[in-house]
Amino acid sequence: MSESLLITGAAQLLTLRGEVPRRGSSLSKLGLIKEGALLVREGKILAVGPRTQVEKHAAARRAEKLDVGGRVVLPGFVDSHTHLIHAASRAEEYELKIQGASYEEIARKGGGILNSAKKLRAATADALKRRARAALQEFASYGTTTVEAKSGYGLDVASELKILALHRELNAEQPLEIVSTFLGAHTVPAEFRGAPGGAQRYIKLLAEQLLPEVINGRLAEFCDVFCDRGAFTRKESEQILIEGKLHGLAPRVHAEQLSHTGATQLAVELGAASCDHLERVNAADIRALAKSRTVATLLPGCDFHLGLKQYAPARKLIEAGAIVALATDYNPGTSPTMSMPMILSLACTQLRMAPAEAVAAATINAACALRREKRIGSLEAGKQADLAVFEVEDYREIPYYFGMNRCWMTMKRGEIIYMQD
Ligand code: NIG
Ligand code: FE
Repeated sequence: MSESLLITGAAQLLTLRGEVPRRGSSLSKLGLIKEGALLVREGKILAVGPRTQVEKHAAARRAEKLDVGGRVVLPGFVDSHTHLIHAASRAEEYELKIQGASYEEIARKGGGILNSAKKLRAATADALKRRARAALQEFASYGTTTVEAKSGYGLDVASELKILALHRELNAEQPLEIVSTFLGAHTVPAEFRGAPGGAQRYIKLLAEQLLPEVINGRLAEFCDVFCDRGAFTRKESEQILIEGKLHGLAPRVHAEQLSHTGATQLAVELGAASCDHLERVNAADIRALAKSRTVATLLPGCDFHLGLKQYAPARKLIEAGAIVALATDYNPGTSPTMSMPMILSLACTQLRMAPAEAVAAATINAACALRREKRIGSLEAGKQADLAVFEVEDYREIPYYFGMNRCWMTMKRGEIIYMQD
């Protein structure tokens, strides 16, 4: 076997080189090369550029060759917000929502996150792993090469640790990179509700029992909170995120999804890596995000699945200069999809993002949200050879087609991890 790989035949090669992070008008800069080529060695990009140039590289002559036949090549998608580990779908709630029940009404009756927590606690680690493994293969089949994964359906010490341990095991056992986030503060578990002070008692458990275990076991890199009506208040969220930060976990926040709580301002104040959802941000929040390094991650799959009409104000965020990213929010309650191309379709039609902006938001800016922009998110010499090849002639066809999969091949660290039949 030759040690390098020369990839040619890219009608369009989207490098995403250039300004990092992408703000404002730079979000639509794709660094597009026609008839592009890539030289890969030991999982990394050795050279990238027009074919004639890359072929001059000494290692290109001896390299194994892969012709992608006039398709479009881009960095693998970075899905920076998922709830990967859960036990089952919530199709029964989906039907109730179609009949008119709101997400919050269902949650108040013990459905929602509590429904998923009940199912997860009863599931074996093996069953959870099988489901997540199949999901990861499906993520790869849509061109995704890195997946952030949150705990949060355990809500007790043993079950949260069970989820986080699975993140680590899956990271070692399959090719996608999993970035682990601790979301013990997804909601107050059933056994802490009823009596007053339940939220505080649960926060105490998170801080005194769970976080030390998470840190000792090096089980997470980020700490997230669902700061919303029916979950945690801004004040409680602050307490939890500060506690996480003291333990070395960088904050990220579920913010302004169902109601306006001030979570965005909190995220910016704490220097959070990202602030996600943002359907209900106001003008001051947008200004604060624009001045900050906190990535504004939009999750249009939620609004689509819940049938909500109010999407996040993507155009205002972009025009103000915020760092906009896109993610699936794969989860059983609000966004059961693993398809980043579908999210790009929604970003274009519902958020009025240009196809080029959607691609940059799902690659280089999403890499920033995971603080991995030096390693992934663009195709440049020295970076990881994480890429997706689409069966299209023009990159705009990636969001243009919807509800079908045009991904032809996915590569992680130079290895083919998905190939269309
Ligand atoms: O990102 N908003 C909070 N968490 C998830 C939904 C969780 C659930 O309903 O299971 C979200 O939308
Ligand atoms: Fe989420």
